[in-house]
Amino acid sequence: MINEQKPTAKKTVFSGVQPSGNLTIGNYLGALSNFTEFTETYNCYYCVVDQHAITIRQVPAELRQRTYEVLALYIACGLDPDKCTLFVQSHVHEHAELAWILNCFTMFGELSRMTQFKDKSSKNTGNVNAGLFTYPVLMAADILLYQADLVPVGADQNQHLEITRDIAERFNNLYSPTFTIPDAYIPKEGAKIMSLADPTKKMSKSDENDFASVRILDPRDGIIKKFKRAVTDSDTRVVMEPGKDGINNLITIYSCFTGKTVEEIEREFEGRGYGEFKLAVGEVCADALAPVQARFAELMNDRAYLESVMKTGAAKASHTAARTLSKVKRKVGFVIL
Ligand code: TYM
Repeated sequence: MINEQKPTAKKTVFSGVQPSGNLTIGNYLGALSNFTEFTETYNCYYCVVDQHAITIRQVPAELRQRTYEVLALYIACGLDPDKCTLFVQSHVHEHAELAWILNCFTMFGELSRMTQFKDKSSKNTGNVNAGLFTYPVLMAADILLYQADLVPVGADQNQHLEITRDIAERFNNLYSPTFTIPDAYIPKEGAKIMSLADPTKKMSKSDENDFASVRILDPRDGIIKKFKRAVTDSDTRVVMEPGKDGINNLITIYSCFTGKTVEEIEREFEGRGYGEFKLAVGEVCADALAPVQARFAELMNDRAYLESVMKTGAAKASHTAARTLSKVKRKVGFVIL
């Protein structure tokens, strides 16, 4: 671990969310809701990764709107801009610059093995662009610029963390220690929330079936309706067992929102059937999201405030990012004036 760049003994956390759709309870439970726990003890950077989002075609006005929304959701979920750095990726040019350099230290074969690339390229056959292919390199740049020690993410990002570590180690070995080698922080519960329509598939913000995903901003009755329609099995017992993917997913969601263990939940719903359980899951989810939604609505009415957070965040992020980038440029042999 390289800590020479850090001004304090505090370790660093970095994470990002793409403004590429309406965020789901998968994003909330796998990532966002865990971000606040680090802000007291770590230097935290939380980024709205708009440059990653354009690897898939976006409607410009919607991308811009969602960039504000993700920032507002960060704050609505409890992140205090005075205690951490909240910023937008495209406001800090060092991300794109470091990504280019790291592209030259990343192998074609490594990128070809990324399951997310294989997934997304098979879903977007008309637009398998180079950015989609080198997406993990930009993600490595995001993380390595801040010398992050820990990266809180859902399980689907684990492979991207592994390639980030490989790129950093390769660079450190070729030159001299430059980057901190980051660890993923994947929550024990909620790291992979599954689709309500097909519980063998991950819940995704880009799913076209509206009943597959519960959005953080869905109204209460919509949330309850979606859980009522969640695909389960023909059994009636609320128990976590192999093969009961739908019920297992609902138990996980209920556990995340209530803090109850699986055993407690199984006892609570013994002999009560799926209908009652689905309603209870919908209610705890809607209750937990209500304060987030209320705060979000207030924040979205105050663009000037959101823009001031973006500006302050970009300046703070840029300060750290510039130091790493300048070190990297010197090491690879660029002339520094
Ligand atoms: P994104 O925008 O797809 O998702 C944001 C976060 O939500 C997690 N997540 C889930 N967790 C549990 N269950 C699910 N169904 C679920 N769906 C999504 C993701 O794991 C992620 O933590 N490549 C990243 C964004 C990124 C990034 C970074 C993250 C860019 N640079 C640097 C960390 C560090 C992504 O597409 O996340």
